[in-house]
Amino acid sequence: MFIRASWVLSLCFAQSWLCSLVMSAEYCDDVQDWCARRIGCGMALQHFFAGCKENLFHETDVCTTSCKRALISLLSSEDDAGLDFINCNCSGDPYCLERKQGIEVCTGDVLSAIHSVNDGTTVVSCTLAKWICEADSSCLTALEFYKSHCSKLFIGDKCTERCNNSVTILYQQAKAQKLQNCACDGSELYDCKSIRYYTDVLCFNKVYQVKNFNGSNNLSVSQLCVTLLIASLLWCWRHVLGVSCSRR
Ligand SMILES: *[C@@H]1O[C@H](CO)[C@@H](O)[C@H](O)[C@H]1NC(C)=O
Ligand SMILES: *[C@@H]1O[C@H](CO)[C@@H](O)[C@H](O)[C@H]1NC(C)=O
Ligand SMILES: *[C@@H]1O[C@H](CO)[C@@H](O)[C@H](O)[C@H]1NC(C)=O
Ligand SMILES: *[C@@H]1O[C@H](CO)[C@@H](O)[C@H](O)[C@H]1NC(C)=O
Repeated sequence: MFIRASWVLSLCFAQSWLCSLVMSAEYCDDVQDWCARRIGCGMALQHFFAGCKENLFHETDVCTTSCKRALISLLSSEDDAGLDFINCNCSGDPYCLERKQGIEVCTGDVLSAIHSVNDGTTVVSCTLAKWICEADSSCLTALEFYKSHCSKLFIGDKCTERCNNSVTILYQQAKAQKLQNCACDGSELYDCKSIRYYTDVLCFNKVYQVKNFNGSNNLSVSQLCVTLLIASLLWCWRHVLGVSCSRR
């Protein structure tokens, strides 16, 4: 899918006349309806209109980070529904044509990013990782279960059995692969670092590592101390106080 996506994209963005020869593109209205009716693609579409607002309204000359992420999410949606939307036929509709023109600046960025999204090792930001998951209906469902069953985990209390099951199911989703080791870059609308931390430590008993956005493992001494302190406090809290101060 990614190979096809990048092939079609490079072809289309680079040579729109060539694209119109090779692709018998469907009409944008139809494709957008079809995409919006699918849970995953619909979600990616929402991210697209919100995340690419500046590009769509020609308020910027560069591809914004949020637009880049939204496009990647759209391109990774199931059944190529998002890809079809990007390549759809505006049939002369000026708003539609303007929209396409607005995101043309994103071509290079998205093309280079889609490869790193596709390989198994590159660490991406957690926002992008979440969007990639959300663009896939079954990954989105697993994510919703995780959100609703792990409320205790999110406040640092514990990883209940139901929560642990939800995490396990979520992490089995192909489109959640990037979520497992994504990097919190501070742009998230939720407490990304804590959630990553609690999931790793409370559910998987992992030794915690602070990751930079670009994925290099680098712990300064003070970060290391704080991390160790928090980990030992958590351990203490769960294994010592948890027994004597149990609320049940
Ligand atoms: C888009 O649709 C118009 C008819 O509305 C058609 O003439 C044109 O060839 C189509 N373009 C592509 C790329 O399919
Ligand atoms: C969660 O499940 C995994 C196996 O999927 C297991 O290794 C781990 O110990 C469990 N954690 C908790 C806190 O139950
Ligand atoms: C990682 O990013 C930091 C800035 O966030 C930069 O200083 C550092 O050189 C980068 N490292 C690599 C290996 O790209
Ligand atoms: C890690 O960070 C320290 C400063 O905090 C820096 O001196 C060192 O070069 C970094 N190492 C890597 C691999 O980025």
